[in-house]
Amino acid sequence: MTTQVFVSEEEEHFAAQSAHWIATRIREAQTRRGVCTLGLSGGSTPGPVHRRIAALGDYGAFSWAELEVFLVDERCVPPDHEDSNERLARETLLDLIEDEDERPVFHGVWQDGLDFEACAKRYEGLLPERFDILLLGLGPDGHTASLFPGHDALHEETRRVIHVQGPKPPPDRWTLTPRELRAAELNVMLVRGASKAPKVAAAIEGDADIHELPGALAREGAWFLDLESASHLHDPTRS
Ligand code: 6PG
Repeated sequence: MTTQVFVSEEEEHFAAQSAHWIATRIREAQTRRGVCTLGLSGGSTPGPVHRRIAALGDYGAFSWAELEVFLVDERCVPPDHEDSNERLARETLLDLIEDEDERPVFHGVWQDGLDFEACAKRYEGLLPERFDILLLGLGPDGHTASLFPGHDALHEETRRVIHVQGPKPPPDRWTLTPRELRAAELNVMLVRGASKAPKVAAAIEGDADIHELPGALAREGAWFLDLESASHLHDPTRS
């Protein structure tokens, strides 16, 4: 798949355009395989997109019952903690589903009573052979998931989920490893803000190595940007 770039002027259009595109890809995976496995990231960007996806699902754009939801990464905190990506997924997507009988399967990472490594091992055993869709974000330093520039996790070739300590608070996290992003049918980057613009351009138009720019793992994916995050691209009209 070649890189696809979609640039939106306003936040509302960013959420609507990306959610509609993602909902269509979910339906296609479900038609093709009878199920869609979807991984969600954390951060401040995905919430409005999740909410629009929830509305589209309730509208029948895809089947909730044929959707399996996972986390691309998670902070090592309980699901009720304000930093929890599971909490974000529940508040902005799962808890908004109107039909109580049509619920997707959700797999979180945190398990009471298990240490960080045991949680990673347990979660690893729940993963699909490969993900249909991973929704990703990009940090100003070029990180994605909880894969940070220069981190040993970027050299992990065997494990599918690992516990890491990173520079973005909170430090203790679990993350899918690079092999999961490489194997995914579709990586979808949701990126807003001028601070990301240099790394967006380097990831899409440059040949940056994933160890210095983990976001380059999604180079061959779909990138939903706002004008600010797209501002360093030479050709923002690839879609
Ligand atoms: C996390 C995210 C992380 C995020 C980027 C972008 O759990 O912290 O998975 O990788 O996607 O840091 O975050 P923003 O959307 O807040 O810019």
